[in-house]
Amino acid sequence: MTVEAAGLILPSDVLIIIMANLDMEDLINLSYTCKFVNLLVHEFGWSLYLKYNVRPSFTLQLARRSWSSFDQVRYDVASDRCWAQAKFNARPLSHPWRNKYQPKIALSASVLLVAANYTIYAYHITHSSSLDDGVPGVSYEGSYSFTDRPAITSITFIPDRHSERTVAVGFEDGRIHRVFLPHFQQEQSNNKPLALNIERDPPLALRIVDVIESLTCSDNMLLSLSSFGTAGLCNLSSDSPLVSAINLDCRSWSSFICMKSSTPFTAFGTTSPNPLVVHAVTPSSLSPAPFAILHSTHERSTAVYDITNAPPSAPWGSSKQVIVSGWYDGAVQVHDLRSGWRDSGVTGTPAPLRPMLTFCDPWSDEPIYSVSCGGGSSSVVGAGTARHSVVAFWDVRRPTEGWSVHAPGNDSSPVYSLVLESSRVFGVTQSRPFVFDFGPGVTKDTYPFLPPSTRSQHDSLKLNKNGVGYCVTQYNHSRT
Ligand SMILES: *[C@@H]1O[C@H](CO)[C@@H](O)[C@H](O)[C@H]1NC(C)=O
Ligand SMILES: *[C@@H]1O[C@H](CO)[C@@H](O)[C@H](O)[C@H]1NC(C)=O
Ligand SMILES: *[C@@H]1O[C@H](CO)[C@@H](O)[C@H](O)[C@H]1NC(C)=O
Ligand SMILES: *[C@@H]1O[C@H](CO)[C@@H](O)[C@H](O)[C@H]1NC(C)=O
Ligand SMILES: *[C@@H]1O[C@H](CO)[C@@H](O)[C@H](O)[C@H]1NC(C)=O
Repeated sequence: MTVEAAGLILPSDVLIIIMANLDMEDLINLSYTCKFVNLLVHEFGWSLYLKYNVRPSFTLQLARRSWSSFDQVRYDVASDRCWAQAKFNARPLSHPWRNKYQPKIALSASVLLVAANYTIYAYHITHSSSLDDGVPGVSYEGSYSFTDRPAITSITFIPDRHSERTVAVGFEDGRIHRVFLPHFQQEQSNNKPLALNIERDPPLALRIVDVIESLTCSDNMLLSLSSFGTAGLCNLSSDSPLVSAINLDCRSWSSFICMKSSTPFTAFGTTSPNPLVVHAVTPSSLSPAPFAILHSTHERSTAVYDITNAPPSAPWGSSKQVIVSGWYDGAVQVHDLRSGWRDSGVTGTPAPLRPMLTFCDPWSDEPIYSVSCGGGSSSVVGAGTARHSVVAFWDVRRPTEGWSVHAPGNDSSPVYSLVLESSRVFGVTQSRPFVFDFGPGVTKDTYPFLPPSTRSQHDSLKLNKNGVGYCVTQYNHSRT
């Protein structure tokens, strides 16, 4: 079939090729030209658009499979716009806990986990078969606790052929276990944690007597880091998982593994003259010596508390070789392993790599405890800071126009863990998990309903006028 537009006669396959290069407004205008082209845009145009404008998300992943391409674009455009205007609904996901913890978050397409001390709180992702039925949300499912185990210090999802509910859990005593989290039965909804017994399974990796600070997984490779610097690499699809172990010989905080890069690598955040180092991963080992040392622009940069990949749509292209890190001095640094911009006059090899971009909140030099990337236009870097439950955001395309927000409840706590998706930010303070939702269609049922707190759970929360989000304090970094 062909179409006649502006005197041109084009076959539809040529039109489809042209569509791949069009932006939103062009596609909309094109769809108005005639009925046939309108169909073509709906059939091919919007799915091509989505292919080149990715918005990765865990909680929307399953629902999006049943949304039309047009609905997905509609959702993305609306949430990108809200990010640009810093407009969102803030919701706590629970009342504050009785004690203060250093919790960790893990998120998959079907469940959100919050591990605090001995307990794992589970929220399942609700489903939505079309955008008009509402957006998927999270709903509290129940909690798990381990019998006779010390506190949980780290948690990450690991691949499992049969379910999305398998995690690696690191404990205070240095053990790492592979744990399947069973679904809750209806009758278990009596608030009692479901007891898990894992003693039958041998621990993964090596047994060390040291706190597991960090666990990260990429493909089938699990990386662990203990507080005194023992790093272990496991191949989870192998019968004898431990591939290799190295010792960094310094107080260690954070680790990151990326197997999808052209050169698979691990990055370690420590406290030492070189607090951020990158080691190569080969199929048989973890290299004991770094192939890159990543420096800060600041003099008193002494520790790196979190490491992640750069957001997918950055001006430097979607590369797995760009690393974002959160530092003790309050800076978020972006390093490109492909760059040749090195510190001169420094002895030792390899010569340290300088950051290509640095983000700071000029009003706060609090340490950065957590970093995560994604957000509006897939261009946002988020950072959880050490005090007042503040999360800072920067769009990599406008690095000087950052802004910050306090989590609902304004807890005087660090934000210990943070996960950014295309339209949602999940975080956790010493007292509870929370979410900022920038997407359309959020209702009071999208997230758990919190009945007004009793006197024993003092909770300084105030609902917004829309009855959906809670009041939070926001500020621009460039305020005058
Ligand atoms: C799309 O159409 C509108 C209205 O005709 C026009 O103002 C606008 O410039 C067009 N956009 C592009 C990118 O051609
Ligand atoms: C876990 O809870 C116990 C008792 O409340 C406390 O002593 C311990 O410090 C907590 N550990 C962590 C890691 O929060
Ligand atoms: C992990 O182990 C499996 C099974 O032994 C092997 O096929 C695979 O290549 C290993 N993966 C890596 C990255 O070494
Ligand atoms: C939250 O705390 C900050 C600083 O501690 C303060 O400036 C702000 O007014 C507080 N916001 C609310 C809603 O209490
Ligand atoms: C932050 O800046 C934007 C525009 O740059 C403005 O619309 C917004 O009102 C400002 N917010 C605050 C809290 O100052």
